[in-house]
Amino acid sequence: MNILITGASSGIGEATARLLHTSGHTVYLIARSIEKLQILQSELGSRCFIEKVDVVDYSGVKQSIENAIHTMGSMDVLVNNAGLGVFDPIAQGSIEDWHLMFDVNVKGLLNCIHAALPHLIEQKGHIVNLGSVASHHVFANSGVYCATKHAVFAISESLRIELPDKIRITTISPGSVNTPFIDSTKNADLLKDYKSYFAAGMSPELIADTIRYAIETPSSAVISEIMVRPNRAVK
Ligand SMILES: NC(=O)c1ccc[n+]([C@@H]2O[C@H](COP(=O)([O-])OP(=O)(O)OC[C@H]3O[C@@H](n4cnc5c(N)ncnc54)[C@H](OP(=O)(O)O)[C@@H]3O)[C@@H](O)[C@H]2O)c1
Repeated sequence: MNILITGASSGIGEATARLLHTSGHTVYLIARSIEKLQILQSELGSRCFIEKVDVVDYSGVKQSIENAIHTMGSMDVLVNNAGLGVFDPIAQGSIEDWHLMFDVNVKGLLNCIHAALPHLIEQKGHIVNLGSVASHHVFANSGVYCATKHAVFAISESLRIELPDKIRITTISPGSVNTPFIDSTKNADLLKDYKSYFAAGMSPELIADTIRYAIETPSSAVISEIMVRPNRAVK
């Protein structure tokens, strides 16, 4: 299959790119850190294409989706993975961080869906959105992040309800995963605890495997959501 992955320069996106490529798929990887994508591309070799794109920029996203379709010949799957979380108690939150989380996690995801949907409908394709356990639960110190991930789940559900036989839609909802994700948080008091909490989370490779499973499930079925949590006392 021909698969576009956003936020493929790190963490879950990078692990997913590697696994899907190894499984024989063609991958088109986008992120802002082109140097990291170049390193990944030189590791993966053929069937791997990269482009520097900020998902917040709709015209850039639209052009990139066109480039991906042209380069790969078609797009079967869009993996909306780009996202970030800046954790703070809500009374101490910065308006810039709140806007950034909504810009990337919600508007960036919508930009990609808007640009890719006509082609994906034509292809009877598949959208995989990275939600979170925070798509369903609200945690202290991450209220705005939780709001963005609730929005991601609502967007997935609306696609599932409105286009049931036109595209497949999957939400992947992990608990904590050991990636650089927590490095966006600047609150030193929170970081002390969260660093070790996320370091003890699941591996990005494990999440990549759930994404692969959803994508490779025969098209007669659709995995609408996978929630996966670390097997430990504190989730
Ligand atoms: N780690 C967890 O515990 C966890 C749990 C549940 C869900 N998730 C979700 O999983 C997804 C991936 O997170 P991760 O843990 O893999 O974090 P990560 O290692 O920090 O990776 C985030 C990726 O998003 C990309 N990105 C950020 N802003 C972007 C923008 N404006 N345009 C394009 N790409 C952008 C980054 O690339 P550049 O900086 O190069 O642009 C990077 O490749 C996120 O949606 C996150 O909310 C993570």
